[in-house]
Amino acid sequence: MSRTLLPVSELPASWYNIAADLPHPPGPPLGPDGNPVSPAALGAVFPMNLIEQEVSQERWIPIPEEVLEILLRYRPTPLHRAKALEAHLKTPARIYFKNESVSPAGSHKVNTAVAQAYYNKMAGMKRVTSETGAGQWGSSIAFACAQFGLECKIYMVRVSFDQKPFRKLMMRTWGAECVASPSEETAAGRAILEQDRSSPGSLGIAISEAVEAAVTDPTGSTRYTLGSVLNHVLLHQTIIGLETQKQLALAGEKKVDTVIGCVGGGSNFAGLAFPFLRDKIAGADMEVLAVEPASCPTLTRGPYAYDHGDVARMTPLLPMHSLGHTFMPPGIHAGGLRYHGMAPLVSRTVVDGLVTPIAIQQLECFAAALAFSRTEGIIPAPESSHAIAQAIRSAVQAREEGKERVIVFNLSGHGLMDLNGYGAYLDGQLADHSLPEEDLRAGLKCLEGHPTPV
Ligand SMILES: Cc1ncc(COP(=O)(O)O)c(C=O)c1O
Repeated sequence: MSRTLLPVSELPASWYNIAADLPHPPGPPLGPDGNPVSPAALGAVFPMNLIEQEVSQERWIPIPEEVLEILLRYRPTPLHRAKALEAHLKTPARIYFKNESVSPAGSHKVNTAVAQAYYNKMAGMKRVTSETGAGQWGSSIAFACAQFGLECKIYMVRVSFDQKPFRKLMMRTWGAECVASPSEETAAGRAILEQDRSSPGSLGIAISEAVEAAVTDPTGSTRYTLGSVLNHVLLHQTIIGLETQKQLALAGEKKVDTVIGCVGGGSNFAGLAFPFLRDKIAGADMEVLAVEPASCPTLTRGPYAYDHGDVARMTPLLPMHSLGHTFMPPGIHAGGLRYHGMAPLVSRTVVDGLVTPIAIQQLECFAAALAFSRTEGIIPAPESSHAIAQAIRSAVQAREEGKERVIVFNLSGHGLMDLNGYGAYLDGQLADHSLPEEDLRAGLKCLEGHPTPV
């Protein structure tokens, strides 16, 4: 059988918190004075119930009934054996992919959006703000807010706002308001527009706008939500890997050799990989690969440093790999991977050698996406195509070495709203792009004077 479905009764009842098992957990967020930020100080930005999850050291955190009920509309998601792709590659490897594209918004982002909307509602909030890159996160939080009767305002990175008109229509259909970032609505947005009226925007700028909009609401009933990077976001995504482990056992697999995810802020990768890393920390032999675009090479070329999550430095300093908070990634079609930083928990697993980062060029990723679409039938999100490209590399290596290997990757979303990118590729308009060394060095200047993580 090429698809393994998990019975509804097997839906995981708890999220897995890797902070309980990491040999060296990342250091705390730091304020401008270099001292750790207290949970109370974050209270203007996030509700306290999510801040408690952010700092929790508990290994298992129960998923509330109300969250499970909504997740059950599309979970457990299927685990597919990519037999047609295997045949195309003539590989002895068995390739599996977890299909997160079946959620209402079409990606894994719904998993945490539902949880974050629920916790905001429980904390008495009326409204949430957020940013979105490719629009996957914005549409997911819009969907989730509709389920809990919350108002929702999204700042969408300008380049994606123009490239992906249907994503903003999805947000509006679910009742959210969506504006292009940088916008005239916030001090952070106006400051950028003053320097460059045609700024393409970045996730770092949109985060500044969304945080500012939340903390300046005079009623105090607005909080900010984030689709990646933070510990609690990664936590909510671990349902992906927990389901996958059960499905692989049902499919008869005893051992996994290679686990692969694409990385933007790190959440879909962590969602699949962290439950497997628990086994690796306990001694299991496997490689865990995090794949990023060569044009935004945070893990492969950025230093491990304390840096801000946004351009306007509204967020605390986080210990992570970073290209510098002022870094302006090129307008590649994998909009969700255009982020200067990385989740501190993912960065830590790289520093500790548990995870290997890999950068791949966009033409190889689109070629992989076409091979996948024409064999397996699902058109992947450009972000997910990075994981597919690596899965193909690993499967070809298995063929060359004549080895049976079990490869699992996360299909983090579908690309049905990203067809402009496919059109550009098919018309031969896309080129590879590596970040030039001098741009890398220039971007890192803003890290000078920041503390160094231990
Ligand atoms: C489909 C898809 N995959 C991956 C990502 C990258 O984000 P993360 O690294 O948090 O999973 C995004 C971000 O928007 C996305 O939409």
